[in-house]
Amino acid sequence: MAILGFQRASARHTGAMANLRAQTLDDLSLLTGGESPFDDFGPQAPRTSPAASQFDAKGGLTIVAEDGQVAGEVTLHWQQWGPNAGSRCPMIGIWLRPEHRGHGLGTRAQSALANMLFRHTTTNRVEAHTDVDNTAEQRALEAVGFQREGVTRGAQWRDGAYRDGLLYAVLRSDPRAPEPGPRRTHRST
Ligand SMILES: CC(C)(COP(=O)(O)OP(=O)(O)OC[C@H]1O[C@@H](n2cnc3c(N)ncnc32)[C@H](O)[C@@H]1OP(=O)(O)O)[C@@H](O)C(=O)NCCC(=O)NCCS
Repeated sequence: MAILGFQRASARHTGAMANLRAQTLDDLSLLTGGESPFDDFGPQAPRTSPAASQFDAKGGLTIVAEDGQVAGEVTLHWQQWGPNAGSRCPMIGIWLRPEHRGHGLGTRAQSALANMLFRHTTTNRVEAHTDVDNTAEQRALEAVGFQREGVTRGAQWRDGAYRDGLLYAVLRSDPRAPEPGPRRTHRST
């Protein structure tokens, strides 16, 4: 049964939940993006307004570490595969400040966001997309319960070349890992 796949994760991922909250103006100087080969958006102007926190539109939430530091952000935008509004689903993204990577926070934050989306919206599906080479993000998504659905060939322009991506999704009816907590440190990306 698919839920057995969570035995390994749930045994290790116990403890505090990631804290996601609406962004404030003070967060913006810390939410710079970048410092990762997988976060190549080209030159960006400094942000001047927090992302929208409502789940009915494109937006984002600040990730707060257990010590209260602003650790990064999760984002979402809505897209759809079918022709009607019932087919809409959120595609989530995440960026952590380099010093907060490799401590389980990415896994916990994406687990918390998926659970919030299923709780506060009627969506049947939450999607994520990542680079075929982004092992940390793939493992984080899989630990949460996202399933790999396929390769998006040459879908992403990054650092001077088209790259293959991986589409992930978790359905409302899929088994999901319990919200994981702190765990051992991993090297940072
Ligand atoms: C990708 C990212 C969100 C992952 O979050 P994280 O907190 O660093 O990752 P976690 O500590 O939760 O670890 C998740 C898994 O990846 C593994 N991992 C962590 N860092 C890794 C690395 N540098 N290389 C390979 N695997 C790594 C962990 O061991 C864990 O796997 P496991 O459960 O099998 O042990 C974070 O590293 C990040 O923000 N990176 C830069 C931006 C980015 O790539 N965003 C995603 C774009 S799609």
